[in-house]
Amino acid sequence: MATRAIVWLTICVLISCGSSSSEPSEYHGLCTNMFCNRLSLLRKLQNCTIVLGDLNISLLERTKRSDFKELSFPNLKEVTGFVVVYRVAGLESLGQLFPNLMRIRGNTLMSNYALIIYDMPKLREVGLYNLLKIDRGGVIIWTGPLTCYLDTINWKAIAPNSRHVLRNASVSSKGLRQRNVASSVLVAVGPIRRVVRCVDIIRTRTTVLASALQGLESNYCVTGDECRHMGRLSWNNTCVADCPENYTCSSLILQTLASIQAAARCVRVNGSITIHIRTMPEAMSELRYYLKSIKEVSDYIVIYGSIVITSLDFLPSLQKIEGQTLFDEKYSFVVYDMENLQTLFTANVTNNLEVNQGSLRFYRNPMLCESEIEKIRILFPIAPSELDIPEGLNGYSGGCDKVSLNLTVEVKNETSVTVKFHSEPIPDIQYSILYVIVPRGLRTISVPETCSETDWDAINIHSPINKDVEMDLSALQPATSYAICIEKYDPLHRHLSRSDVKHFSTAVGKPEPPFIIELVASSSESVVIRWVDHLAYQPHVVRYELDVVLVNIKSSDILARNHCTYNNYEWLDDYTVHAKIMRPPKNYDAGCESMCGILSTVTMGALVDEHFDVCNIVKRCDFDDERPKNSSKGSYIKTLALNISGPKKDYQIVGLAAYRDYRFKLKACTKSQCSQSVTNTVKTLRSDSADIALISFVTADEKGIVTVKWDSPRIINGAVLSYIVEVYPVIKFSDVSQMMPHTACVSGNVTDLVMKSVVASKYLVRLCTKTLASTYSCGEKEKIVVAFQVIPTWWWSGIFFGIFIYSFSCVIGWRWRSRNIVTDDIPLVDATSLYRNESEPPAVMMSDFAPIYNIPLTDC
Ligand SMILES: *[C@@H]1O[C@H](CO)[C@@H](O)[C@H](O)[C@H]1NC(C)=O
Ligand SMILES: *[C@@H]1O[C@H](CO)[C@@H](O)[C@H](O)[C@H]1NC(C)=O
Ligand SMILES: *[C@@H]1O[C@H](CO)[C@@H](O)[C@H](O)[C@H]1NC(C)=O
Ligand SMILES: *[C@@H]1O[C@H](CO)[C@@H](O)[C@H](O)[C@H]1NC(C)=O
Ligand SMILES: *[C@@H]1O[C@H](CO)[C@@H](O)[C@H](O)[C@H]1NC(C)=O
Ligand SMILES: *[C@@H]1O[C@H](CO)[C@@H](O)[C@H](O)[C@H]1NC(C)=O
Ligand SMILES: *[C@@H]1O[C@H](CO)[C@@H](O)[C@H](O)[C@H]1NC(C)=O
Ligand SMILES: *[C@@H]1O[C@H](CO)[C@@H](O)[C@H](O)[C@H]1NC(C)=O
Ligand SMILES: *[C@@H]1O[C@H](CO)[C@@H](O)[C@H](O)[C@H]1NC(C)=O
Ligand SMILES: *[C@@H]1O[C@H](CO)[C@@H](O)[C@H](O)[C@H]1NC(C)=O
Ligand SMILES: *[C@@H]1O[C@H](CO)[C@@H](O)[C@H](O)[C@H]1NC(C)=O
Repeated sequence: MATRAIVWLTICVLISCGSSSSEPSEYHGLCTNMFCNRLSLLRKLQNCTIVLGDLNISLLERTKRSDFKELSFPNLKEVTGFVVVYRVAGLESLGQLFPNLMRIRGNTLMSNYALIIYDMPKLREVGLYNLLKIDRGGVIIWTGPLTCYLDTINWKAIAPNSRHVLRNASVSSKGLRQRNVASSVLVAVGPIRRVVRCVDIIRTRTTVLASALQGLESNYCVTGDECRHMGRLSWNNTCVADCPENYTCSSLILQTLASIQAAARCVRVNGSITIHIRTMPEAMSELRYYLKSIKEVSDYIVIYGSIVITSLDFLPSLQKIEGQTLFDEKYSFVVYDMENLQTLFTANVTNNLEVNQGSLRFYRNPMLCESEIEKIRILFPIAPSELDIPEGLNGYSGGCDKVSLNLTVEVKNETSVTVKFHSEPIPDIQYSILYVIVPRGLRTISVPETCSETDWDAINIHSPINKDVEMDLSALQPATSYAICIEKYDPLHRHLSRSDVKHFSTAVGKPEPPFIIELVASSSESVVIRWVDHLAYQPHVVRYELDVVLVNIKSSDILARNHCTYNNYEWLDDYTVHAKIMRPPKNYDAGCESMCGILSTVTMGALVDEHFDVCNIVKRCDFDDERPKNSSKGSYIKTLALNISGPKKDYQIVGLAAYRDYRFKLKACTKSQCSQSVTNTVKTLRSDSADIALISFVTADEKGIVTVKWDSPRIINGAVLSYIVEVYPVIKFSDVSQMMPHTACVSGNVTDLVMKSVVASKYLVRLCTKTLASTYSCGEKEKIVVAFQVIPTWWWSGIFFGIFIYSFSCVIGWRWRSRNIVTDDIPLVDATSLYRNESEPPAVMMSDFAPIYNIPLTDC
């Protein structure tokens, strides 16, 4: 009801106040809600020092850079609500526009945010250098790629305890590097306090605004005149937009929506309440929403001529009618000409209401049965006379005659019941079975009438022949409460009578699946899942079954492409793979408050999808009841079957593999049955410390053949696509860091490599990995010194000489060939290299420093 009321309020505000707020007015530097969608309206900010309300600069899509060149509003210091800057073409700096904006109070928020800068492709800087404080609400800055210095602003200091979502919207750019949304900042959501909008009044206007920090701590000072110009109320020396809590209001005359809204939060009425509402959509919900706090009325209550009112249940807190002043000097409660009023106060109010003085008066209320009036008659200190409640002037339209038809309801299953009643043995009598769903939380239900708010279903039975009538009601909703009654109509005497209203609930049966509102990777190894229940089954759900399954990466899929040569990856750098956030359908619980914002509670930048059916192509529902067993792969979860006892709405699963897809299946179970499972898949975040493969073995021989073996990385982001081995032959006098390596690439299923490099006595070898989340993650460079074959002693002596001769002649030949450019310290045979001091400069023949080329040993 409250939401409906708010929607209606919004609509009304748009209709009735829209025109006035689009023409913002300024008075002594105070401006009310500024909604600028034209340059001319933006210019109205010229003399504003404080915007009381919100500043919305939106949809200036035809403006140009030059339009903003001279435009600046140095006077503006403060906005009490939120600030939205959305699609302002050509605007490059917000700071230039509002160089002195110091404070955004966030008394009103847009989806929990106080500063929203969104879809501003040309914005180069936020530049609100003087912004010192955002009192309430978070910050979203989602701009174009041109925006600089975003992270130089300490948003945490300016807007503590709130969420900040800062992002360069480079969503379209592809590439591996962007995937890591490292630029985003996420701060835990703090509890958001409700702030009462109050502006202190000091009789004379001071210059408090001028002082920066001091001003931040004080309220602004307005005169009563200024307060009235802002369309607000003076209350207890304060200029308020809304009534404060525990507000005492003066007499209420409720005829229009505005007058009803003005009573919001009013607890005590110092005066009387008069209600006369002819037509108004959703009047009952408006009344219920805005009058719900009224506890005490000092004088009296008069309600008359209001077709739309069917019940007085909109005064659920009423405790006292004092009757200090009486209506007609006699009555403290008067109700007349209420065509559709059927019931009075809720049972709780009737039981506790205290009336200090006066009597009551009821007349021309055709639907209001005398029995209803009887319920409250005793509360009044002075009994009503016959003229006060004239006989036959209430409840005369029928329906007040109670008939006992011995109505019974037998619940058969989730969707059908059998209704039995005794009909009277009179011909031509019409009976109707009337039934309606009782909304959750609603105790009383008005009986069906023309203007009843709820539509009752009716089954008409004309002149039943049998005394015992039996009727099946089918197509009912499972797990739902219904109200039912029988109406009897005698056409001859034009007489309507009705049985008592009975209640029944259909069987629960198989519950509807829960709705996953949030499935979000919170780290490289954890995922948070949040869900809501179907409203009808919520009270019946006792546990949940959650299955987590690692989605396999087929090695054949990886190997299908040569990742050594392929570089044009089209992977999504989009956050949606890591965060699935959905707003639930209407018949589901709404989730927590922060869910109603546009952002996830866990993930920065994750947008909420509008809800769609719980089970559809995207979010499948499965019937299969086969649950996985718990299993792991290495140190991370492969499959997990959890039983979560309810009530529970979220769960965090840790121990998952980095950058892998996990499928989550969730079922809600009642004591006896489980729902279908609802399924969604999410990818864990990438791990920054992953993808480093360690070389387990490396040698090089004197021919320049380098053999490398390695272990696959301990933590892998997704899967290894390829390994790249870099070999740096170490050359004297040259800076190692500047040397270009020989590289070789092998596919991800290979863990060793033999490659031919140039001949050198030392090499640095480095192993790099390309995975699903990193193009090039390298380990440390390992130094190797050319090893010489160690020959077993029994034949070593025999062969040594031959080898020596061979090597000697090779080297001599080599040296001879390249005599012109050799350095002077070439060892003949570097037989001592194993024992050589590592700090010694490497020795190599410059001639061997061949041009760089890759040696493909595989098909890479
Ligand atoms: C701002 O104040 C100046 C001086 O009083 C006035 O000329 C101007 O029209 C005002 N601007 C707006 C937009 O009200
Ligand atoms: C801001 O203005 C735009 C239109 O220019 C409108 O669509 C939007 O709803 C407004 N936002 C708020 C929060 O008032
Ligand atoms: C936005 O992009 C610009 C240029 O690409 C960069 O200098 C800046 O650091 C980025 N800001 C953030 C918050 O990512
Ligand atoms: C009125 O304002 C004063 C001063 O701020 C405060 O002490 C007092 O409690 C307020 N009265 C009510 C009824 O709120
Ligand atoms: C309003 O009154 C109730 C009791 O009547 C009290 O508990 C509550 O604290 C009051 N709230 C404020 C804001 O004064
Ligand atoms: C209630 O209203 C009367 C006048 O109708 C006024 O004299 C009195 O001061 C008011 N009481 C309060 C507490 O506002
Ligand atoms: C009934 O009224 C009393 C006081 O009038 C209140 O404390 C209690 O919460 C009410 N109960 C319900 C269910 O509204
Ligand atoms: C309803 O049932 C009661 C006893 O269960 C019986 O005395 C009464 O006559 C029945 N009423 C009708 C209208 O059948
Ligand atoms: C419930 O019972 C009715 C009538 O016996 C039957 O037609 C219907 O199929 C049943 N529904 C279920 C869900 O069992
Ligand atoms: C799997 O492990 C979880 C906790 O680690 C445990 O609660 C659950 O019962 C296990 N499931 C099965 C099927 O063993
Ligand atoms: C790696 O994959 C390729 C292509 O499928 C295959 O030819 C090769 O035998 C595999 N190597 C290993 C060591 O499994």
